[in-house]
Amino acid sequence: MKFQEKDHLYGNNNNKKQMIPKLILTAIFVTILVLVTPLSYPFFGSSLLVMMNKSKQLPSSSSSSSSPNIEQETLPSTSLKTCDIFSGEWVPNPKAPYYTNKTCWAIHEHQNCMKYGRPDSDFMKWRWKPNECELPIFNPFQFLEIVRGKSMAFVGDSVGRNHMQSLICLLSRVEWPIDVSYTKDDYFMRWKYPSYNFTMAVYWTPFLVKTKQESSDGPTHTGLYNIYLDEFDEKWTSEIEDFDYVIINGGHWFQKPMVFYEKGKIVGCHYCLLENVTDLTMYYGYRKAFRTAFRALNSLENFKGVTFLRTFAPSHFENGIWNQGGNCVRTKPFKSNEARLEGTNMELYMIQLEEYKISQKWAKRNGLKIRLLDTTQSMLLRPDGHPSRYGHLPGENVTLYNDCVHWCLPGPIDTWNDFLLEMLKMEIVKSKRERRQIYS
Ligand SMILES: *[C@@H]1O[C@H](CO)[C@@H](O)[C@H](O)[C@H]1NC(C)=O
Ligand SMILES: *[C@@H]1O[C@H](CO)[C@@H](O)[C@H](O)[C@H]1NC(C)=O
Ligand SMILES: *[C@@H]1O[C@H](CO)[C@@H](O)[C@H](O)[C@H]1NC(C)=O
Ligand SMILES: *[C@@H]1O[C@H](CO)[C@@H](O)[C@H](O)[C@H]1NC(C)=O
Ligand SMILES: *[C@@H]1O[C@H](CO)[C@@H](O)[C@H](O)[C@H]1NC(C)=O
Repeated sequence: MKFQEKDHLYGNNNNKKQMIPKLILTAIFVTILVLVTPLSYPFFGSSLLVMMNKSKQLPSSSSSSSSPNIEQETLPSTSLKTCDIFSGEWVPNPKAPYYTNKTCWAIHEHQNCMKYGRPDSDFMKWRWKPNECELPIFNPFQFLEIVRGKSMAFVGDSVGRNHMQSLICLLSRVEWPIDVSYTKDDYFMRWKYPSYNFTMAVYWTPFLVKTKQESSDGPTHTGLYNIYLDEFDEKWTSEIEDFDYVIINGGHWFQKPMVFYEKGKIVGCHYCLLENVTDLTMYYGYRKAFRTAFRALNSLENFKGVTFLRTFAPSHFENGIWNQGGNCVRTKPFKSNEARLEGTNMELYMIQLEEYKISQKWAKRNGLKIRLLDTTQSMLLRPDGHPSRYGHLPGENVTLYNDCVHWCLPGPIDTWNDFLLEMLKMEIVKSKRERRQIYS
């Protein structure tokens, strides 16, 4: 059985009512995920204070913290030459990190590695160096200027939430957001940056399409899910139209047992062990789920946003799979020649690239923009960036496995926002060029 992921870490808001234990293990998982996973913001009260705090120690050279015209002044300079920012190496960066667990309350407990005793801290002190150019360190002032009056949604699983929390922490040197969530549900939070009129939201949809949890047990005791591969998950598709930026991700949940439905009928499954149901592998479901998610975006009449497909970030279990002692204890990144994308990681990534290509044809026709935020290669090289066992107290009375899926904060996932800002700048350059072409 190749199942590699950790059930409890992903949270699941479908089964809050199913907490009566059937199997002890399942009960423990479910309990943990309901009780512990909800975002804990110990200093939540302080987030209601709007803190305009202009820091003097900006990491980026091109910053100009007080200028409202930052866009015009600095944008085109770094972004004009074409460079594959996603191919490169991790290089030492003694200046990192740019926040700590003391300055940022948005760190999820399970990713607050320093709080839970992680002994080493060098894993925070790296930056991504593309082979052919420099990737500037995230500049929160510049980011907020670019997204002024706009909105951004994170759509997918808890690694997407991990990404959003990194962004909140990086932006906290400028401003804290206020909670403007429509619901009390932690999986659908909405934040607002008042001085910038910038809204950020997270949508929980680990399979991206319509899903029903059939059983909380299933062949691997991690749940059995009915996945309606050709149907939209309206929890996000019904609200996404108004967003200017959508960052979509998915992956780790597809390793769970699933039954696939198309046109309302069972067409196959992944490790469901049901009689007469063909095992089509998780790859089948993964491909179709992304295709349907992109179809959803393309079908929205008023959606004019830019979509970023944030590609699969590999986990790093060594010496065993997730529930059989596997762990991630390295303290240094790999060099690019020390790790190869292969196996499941490779398959999932290739499917994303293929579906991305397909989505481009539709997008062009509809005037939509879908971009690749390609984190796969850089994160493959970061076996040192996961919480491992430092996502909870050592004596805590919970059954938590080593987490080699999510990313410590601060940590390498902060780099995703370096990528994101660079891509936002690129969008501005591109649309300027387009305008110039129209008017010339
Ligand atoms: C701004 O940051 C400084 C140093 O980081 C801190 O001492 C001060 O309390 C902060 N001000 C506000 C309003 O948060
Ligand atoms: C932050 O990490 C330190 C260890 O570096 C720990 O002692 C402290 O409890 C943590 N604080 C919070 C608020 O998480
Ligand atoms: C804030 O931004 C939204 C779009 O996200 C816009 O509709 C609204 O008018 C803006 N409000 C202000 C006060 O600028
Ligand atoms: C599986 O298919 C066989 C042959 O069509 C049929 O006899 C049997 O009842 C089916 N089993 C189930 C569980 O549907
Ligand atoms: C740990 O949890 C078990 C099962 O829920 C309980 O029986 C036991 O008393 C708990 N131990 C402590 C130290 O809280």
